[in-house]
Amino acid sequence: MSLQTQPYKGARDFYPEDKRIQKFMFNKLRRAVETYGYEEYDAPMLEPLDIYLAKSGSEIVNDQTYTFTDRGDRQVVIRPEMTPSVSRMVAAKRNQLNFPLRWYSIPNLWRYERPQRGRYREHWQLNVDLFGEASLSAEGEIINLASHILKSFGATNEMFEIRLNSRKFMEYLAGQTFSLNAENSLSLFKLIDRKNKIDQEVFNEQALGILSGQEDVDRLLYILDLDDIRNIPKELSSADGIVDIQTLISNLSVNADIGKVVFDPNIMRGFDYYNDMVFEIFDTHPENNRAMMGGGRYDGLVGLFGVEPVPTIGFGLGDATLLNFLQIHELLPTVSPETDLAVLLLNEESNDSQSLVAELRKQGLNIAVDFSDRKVGNKIRWAESKGIKYIIVLGQDEIDSQILSIKNLSDGSSETVELNLVGKYLKN
Ligand code: HAM
Repeated sequence: MSLQTQPYKGARDFYPEDKRIQKFMFNKLRRAVETYGYEEYDAPMLEPLDIYLAKSGSEIVNDQTYTFTDRGDRQVVIRPEMTPSVSRMVAAKRNQLNFPLRWYSIPNLWRYERPQRGRYREHWQLNVDLFGEASLSAEGEIINLASHILKSFGATNEMFEIRLNSRKFMEYLAGQTFSLNAENSLSLFKLIDRKNKIDQEVFNEQALGILSGQEDVDRLLYILDLDDIRNIPKELSSADGIVDIQTLISNLSVNADIGKVVFDPNIMRGFDYYNDMVFEIFDTHPENNRAMMGGGRYDGLVGLFGVEPVPTIGFGLGDATLLNFLQIHELLPTVSPETDLAVLLLNEESNDSQSLVAELRKQGLNIAVDFSDRKVGNKIRWAESKGIKYIIVLGQDEIDSQILSIKNLSDGSSETVELNLVGKYLKN
């Protein structure tokens, strides 16, 4: 029996044409976050299990981690998210670091999930986090930046929607409005988090098991259906978190370019570390109506590493959801390969042709050389199939005269250029 060629379930191979697209996306992401002063960091792919047990939430820890015991008997996890790692790094240098910190990374993460459109077991995730700012201006910056990222790919306001909620408000709702204890509050939050994945009847039935009667279930459903903070019932208008959401929405609306920002009490976010504002950004396209980014404020996580807490807010953006978004809205350009030029040798490889190509590389060009003995026509078709835009057919005449004919494969035109000017010509 021969060996399987498929990659591991839920993980992707990246052939050069796929990697090129990933590089294009990551370059844009880096550029977009660096314009806001964010600096790149990284951390190991393996972490001790404990850092997720504390606050990542039971679904991630119990159902989704790749956990194993290493040869030294340590319980190790392949990181399912970056937030605990970056919090650990900040805690380790809590007293040396000069806050605020604006940090980003693009790690690959592993989660044992059911693979489906836009969901893999291995995905890459842009993580953007702002450490050391407690004011709502931090929320403002982070959400403006999230929107700026999508805009930098050419997205328009109609293509996405920013949905905001507050954990503080949800705690108030559970504790004050519905008089739930901590355990039932948590059950209610988990249920709301699943609301879009289950039937309304099932939701109703399970809500009845947590709340004290149908009247409260109806009240909850009324609140979950709100899409405008101005319609919040009077008795909740000064509840914890509500004024902050109102202020944030009004601050964000100063930027007309930010896209649609709405209050959405269904946004719970599965992680236990969020303590205040939470948000997700959804693709509005009917065939891809899902969250591309998610994040929120998590002021207590750094402090769990035994140092003074640091107010923090951040978000993650998945590569696969971003790619689906770009494809469905036709925002993904054709990404050319890095190779600028193919030099097709007419004769067998010679020292003269090698030094000529070396001279061209010195001019800053990326060059693939075809030294095979197949026909020129086949060599040209090979260059075309690689997406290489320019070719030079190199024979003894060209070596002697140092004058080269450069053919543009995309429009069929040719130009004669002196050897020492080829780099300049192609870069223009
Ligand atoms: P998350 O909501 O789990 O948050 O992930 C953020 C984004 O990563 C999601 O909106 C989605 O686009 C993408 N994503 C997550 N899981 C998968 C998957 N299995 N396959 C493909 N894409 C996926 C977090 O991970 C938080 N730690 C983010 C954060 C950073 N919060 C504060 N700072």
